[in-house]
Amino acid sequence: MVVRTLLLQLAGSHWLEVYARNNRLSRRLARRFVAGDSLEEATEPIRQLNAQKIAVSLDFLGESVADAGEVEAAECVALQMLQHIRREQLDANISVKLTALGLDFDEQLCRATLGRILTAAGSDGFVRIDMEDSSHTQRTLDTCMAMWNGTPAQHNVGVVIQAYLYRSEEDVKALLKAGVRVRLCKGAYKEQATVAFRHKHEVDANYLRLAGMLLDSGLYHGFATHDPAMIAGVQRYAAEHSIKPEAYEFQMLYGIRRDLQTALVAEGYRMRVYVPFGTHWYPYFMRRMAERPANLWFVLRNMAR
Ligand code: FDA
Repeated sequence: MVVRTLLLQLAGSHWLEVYARNNRLSRRLARRFVAGDSLEEATEPIRQLNAQKIAVSLDFLGESVADAGEVEAAECVALQMLQHIRREQLDANISVKLTALGLDFDEQLCRATLGRILTAAGSDGFVRIDMEDSSHTQRTLDTCMAMWNGTPAQHNVGVVIQAYLYRSEEDVKALLKAGVRVRLCKGAYKEQATVAFRHKHEVDANYLRLAGMLLDSGLYHGFATHDPAMIAGVQRYAAEHSIKPEAYEFQMLYGIRRDLQTALVAEGYRMRVYVPFGTHWYPYFMRRMAERPANLWFVLRNMAR
């Protein structure tokens, strides 16, 4: 718990980010979780996943931008990703973070930009809005609903719900009422006890409670987890309620539990892997370290060599 808290704090350190990005060894280590610096570099890993019947959600790494120029650049990359997916016929959708589209300093700009990305994705595309820390939850959900209920209504958008937040049950109810597709995850940020469950057993119990609500809805949702107990819980609930494996998908992160990814596909389950790329990998990399401090020992061992 102490190591996790420390790593999540360091994820926000600008100084460490500059150091890590300029360090050859840390760049190499980050490659375990990041598919490449550019879209071109990420393409081969995506093809390899698709060849194993694994779909992808492609993410351009970047968050918390501070001016309109950076938002324009992020939009440009999102549009390139959509074009690239079509041109290369990849089995992929895209994920976006709203702070990369200006949520923190201009909500109207953020909504207008997301609207254009959804229009470009079209009815055969899908855009998943990642969920960031709890100071962004309400604004992220509001933005998603503004797209959903907008003119024209854009229904090729979905959002993420974090099982560690107390509020998530109410949020799931509201999203299901509207018909929005959800990715359910445990949650990756440092949160206070006033807003989030502190203990793993509580987060896990809430994950399974929310998973049951999502499965009952009849909509196509994603269950993002590497936890065998959560996967088994989703499978058990679905089997007990005669919900077919095609009615939902499991999702995992690039580079994590590849054995489990292929095993689930072999058993007939749908699998999507979240594939990040780009040079701004440091906060994402640190969150992956925090999830499993054993990864940190792997990094330190390599640095000591
Ligand atoms: P848990 O953390 O309990 O881990 C269970 C087991 O999984 C571990 O024992 C280990 O074997 C393995 N494992 C987990 N993390 C690992 C790692 N980093 N390295 C190696 N092994 C690891 N969060 C968020 O706040 N907003 C979001 O939008 C998203 N989006 C998202 C998309 C997808 C596709 C996934 C899979 C995850 C996210 N997350 C996220 C992250 C999520 O909230 C959570 O932090 C991680 O998935 C870890 O939680 P698990 O459910 O895997 O369980």
